[in-house]
Amino acid sequence: MSTRTLIRGGLVVTAADEVHADVLIEDGRVVALAAHGSDVAAGWTAARTIDATDRYVLPGGVDAHTHMELPFGGTFASDTFETGTRAAAWGGTTTIVDFAVQSVGHSLREGLDTWYAKADGNCAVDYAFHMILSDVNEQTLKEMDKLVQEGITSFKLFMAYPGVFYSDDGQILRAMQRSADNGGLIMMHAENGIAIDVLVEQALARGETDPRYHGEVRKALLEAEATHRAIQLARVAGAPLYVVHVSAQEAVAELAAARDKGLPVFGETCPQYLFLSTDNLAEPDFEGAKYVCSTPLRPKEHQAALWRGLRTNDLQVVSTDHCPFCFVGQKELGRGDFSKIPNGLPGVENRMDLLHQAVVDGHISRRRWIEIACATPARMFGLYPQKGTIAPGADADIVIYDPHAVQTLSVETHHMNVDYSAYEGKTITGQVETVLSRGEVVIDQRKFTGRAGHGVFTPRSTCQYLN
Ligand code: URP
Ligand code: ZN
Ligand code: ZN
Ligand code: ZN
Repeated sequence: MSTRTLIRGGLVVTAADEVHADVLIEDGRVVALAAHGSDVAAGWTAARTIDATDRYVLPGGVDAHTHMELPFGGTFASDTFETGTRAAAWGGTTTIVDFAVQSVGHSLREGLDTWYAKADGNCAVDYAFHMILSDVNEQTLKEMDKLVQEGITSFKLFMAYPGVFYSDDGQILRAMQRSADNGGLIMMHAENGIAIDVLVEQALARGETDPRYHGEVRKALLEAEATHRAIQLARVAGAPLYVVHVSAQEAVAELAAARDKGLPVFGETCPQYLFLSTDNLAEPDFEGAKYVCSTPLRPKEHQAALWRGLRTNDLQVVSTDHCPFCFVGQKELGRGDFSKIPNGLPGVENRMDLLHQAVVDGHISRRRWIEIACATPARMFGLYPQKGTIAPGADADIVIYDPHAVQTLSVETHHMNVDYSAYEGKTITGQVETVLSRGEVVIDQRKFTGRAGHGVFTPRSTCQYLN
């Protein structure tokens, strides 16, 4: 009795339905939904009742692409698992899937254990891991099978960053063949890094050192080329493929063409590509460095193709690629040489709100918002229906969302551990009000009531989006 919580009077929105229903929670899970005002719902009692009148009741967000504490360019992403998952909770995200990193010359096991240790006891919301493969060899391939058994069922490969994370086509093909056997899902950073490095060198030799040249050398065609190549390699291997952080319209076209052939090829984009552009990269006084990430921001014209892809399901997921670096002391490492600016943008706290704004603006429907931000990422990465929906048996990861509140995004009010907001001054209609993680209230009427260590590691099954 004492562990029962009741959410009354809200509009429950999932990827499938919008219903005025009361939600009964017991021992951290949803046990039942019943029509608001029905005899069944009226008969329910609970230790705690949350009034959700005039609010949405949403599944907690699932952000399938974060990089807490990522080592990059001689520094570390500025959010720890503690600060980053707290910010996630503030923004209505109750599960993150972060990337454990294999270092060159080391095993997957070592990399994964390092990431377990970073996260253990520190997270405010639940977390899972993908594994970055930086050194594909016989040993690594064998280890992939073990990781799939352990609930690490997806592997990121890089066609970019030669000398750091880069894999060549042979390594990529081998990893794809292995994943075709063991059920793992290959996630691809699709940019032709070898060609990009030539263009970087040539740009710097011409004295083109400002942040905006980051966007010019990382050409859309080189994203499209790598996307095309990754698709063909996956086809040869007989493996499904998930392309991360798609930003170029030409890359969306490659995904759409593959999907039209019936291939199991999936694409993710991120809020920064939907809302920001090369105009931001061109901001004067080195301010453009705040917007340096890879794939890069594109000219505004690309945004329409991304929104369209999200509507037509040629793109299935919106994740943040949250990888914050402070302007002072971190982004500044690249003054005088854009190639030394650490790559990445903050955003884990902003994703649910920005996508609600997309609903308000008419880009996507309310249910599609929940599909791309909660249900599909959970299905894609083997967390459904524990995560990503509100249904009997699901974890009670629930957001009470006020669709009428108006807020202004700002570094002054956000909770991410970074000294700027990529969306400074942007007005959003809608705001997270209360958040439950496995039935525990972690944000209560816009007060943080959670704690580091509440969030637990969540092993994943293999991709559930294929069947
Ligand atoms: O710029 C980015 N995206 N930084 C994080 C690493 C990656 O490639 O996802
Ligand atoms: Zn209303
Ligand atoms: Zn990447
Ligand atoms: Zn990333």
